[in-house]
Amino acid sequence: MESQRKPSDFLYQRRGPWPQPCPEHPFGEAPAVLHLPLRETIDWWFHIGSRYLRTLLSAPLAYLRGIIQPGLQMVSDRDFNDYLTKSMMAKFIRPEFDDEDRRVFGDLIKSDSLVVDLQAVRVVKTFDGIWVCPSKVLLEKTAYGWQAQCIHLQSSKELFYPNAGASWELAKYFVLQGAALCATLVVHPLLHFPLDAINAITKTALPKDHLLFQLLLPHTRFTLYLEKAVLTFKSSLLHGKWWMPYAPYPGPYEGLRDLLVEGYAGIEQNVNYPAYQYQLECPKIFGSYGEYHRRYYRVVQGFVDAVLANLSKEEWVYALHWVHYIHAWLPGFPSRESVASTPQLLNKIVTSYLFNVTIGHTIDHYNYGRMNIRQVPLRLRTPPPSSPSESSRVDPSRLTRFWDNGKYEMASKLFFSSSTKTSLLNTHYDFGDRQFEIQRLVDEFKLKLQQTEADLTREGINYMPLCEVAASIQF
Ligand SMILES: [Fe+2]
Repeated sequence: MESQRKPSDFLYQRRGPWPQPCPEHPFGEAPAVLHLPLRETIDWWFHIGSRYLRTLLSAPLAYLRGIIQPGLQMVSDRDFNDYLTKSMMAKFIRPEFDDEDRRVFGDLIKSDSLVVDLQAVRVVKTFDGIWVCPSKVLLEKTAYGWQAQCIHLQSSKELFYPNAGASWELAKYFVLQGAALCATLVVHPLLHFPLDAINAITKTALPKDHLLFQLLLPHTRFTLYLEKAVLTFKSSLLHGKWWMPYAPYPGPYEGLRDLLVEGYAGIEQNVNYPAYQYQLECPKIFGSYGEYHRRYYRVVQGFVDAVLANLSKEEWVYALHWVHYIHAWLPGFPSRESVASTPQLLNKIVTSYLFNVTIGHTIDHYNYGRMNIRQVPLRLRTPPPSSPSESSRVDPSRLTRFWDNGKYEMASKLFFSSSTKTSLLNTHYDFGDRQFEIQRLVDEFKLKLQQTEADLTREGINYMPLCEVAASIQF
């Protein structure tokens, strides 16, 4: 098979996109894919970039809403606990405690305690008059479910407890701000940038009639140019210039970019922020948000197993090349030798990719995009409480300015919310000569997805409509 292949057998004549060390942080960020075929650029601008431009027209309305509804809203303890344990913020919950956690919480840690660690925000540099504070939350199991037992703020090195009045109310905002920063710039980016190497190498190194290429191609559309825009455009929301009506973050580019590094390179001696490794299993996430992931993951695994059972011997040759190329770029990605000796590893690799760029990615956006921006702030215009006994009243309406809310609302509309262009349920695969036999597997897959949605709805943990799950990373 290999010797007969011509450049024309490949999507981009074997000259397609390829990963390279990230120019900003070659050792701290995921490999970047920056040199893209013109057709991918045009496709993105036509379908995605144009939506951004249209949406920008609503900026005056967002600012007006910031004036009419100033500042933040109160966050009840119940809402606070729900945010931490039942939303995408559940990704921060861990059962392991490192030395720093034990030093901070001491004897409060019980055998079933959990911790939410938002130390990563320590690298954020803030604009004048805006504050950010690393925090940790100790969670305890009660008769009413999981609840925050106390909050530790690094600025004061104090513990804040519920019912402590103003200091507790303010501490909650700093936790939610930290979670918002870590959600959007530490944890979620791991579903974006590391997977770009797989996207690029699939397009460049697999022939167009290869089963793996045909399976993955619909799940790679729009992504590479989107990533390039976020990482390299001077108009990216990471740059936080005053004139950008969609740049909601609390500080300048340098610190924000370091959040990406913490997500990928990890934080030394912090068990909650390990260095990135390509995952071969369903992401381990606490509670119902995790259960939502696990249920769909099994369905994707079944589909991938069924499709890849049709790989021919000749196709295995190219699949192993594909593995070999990606292995060079992604930590934890299996080697050619390991996949050759354990073929099931290929199914695990492909399942992880397919799940994460579709359901795993969209659900984060859908969930975060629906959070109340007046309860989960990105900017806070007051210092963190200095002691638990601090009693000065917190006036939520003065914690942000109207343009803070306006920029946040615009960022939410443009980038944080899901805005599906091509959906998983409507994905069309072109399997060439094998269309008839494999289309049957696709139909079964979509049916099982719908059955899973019905089950999750019955159980009250359907986090989003299946029909809105995107086919690729496109927002
Ligand atoms: Fe995303």
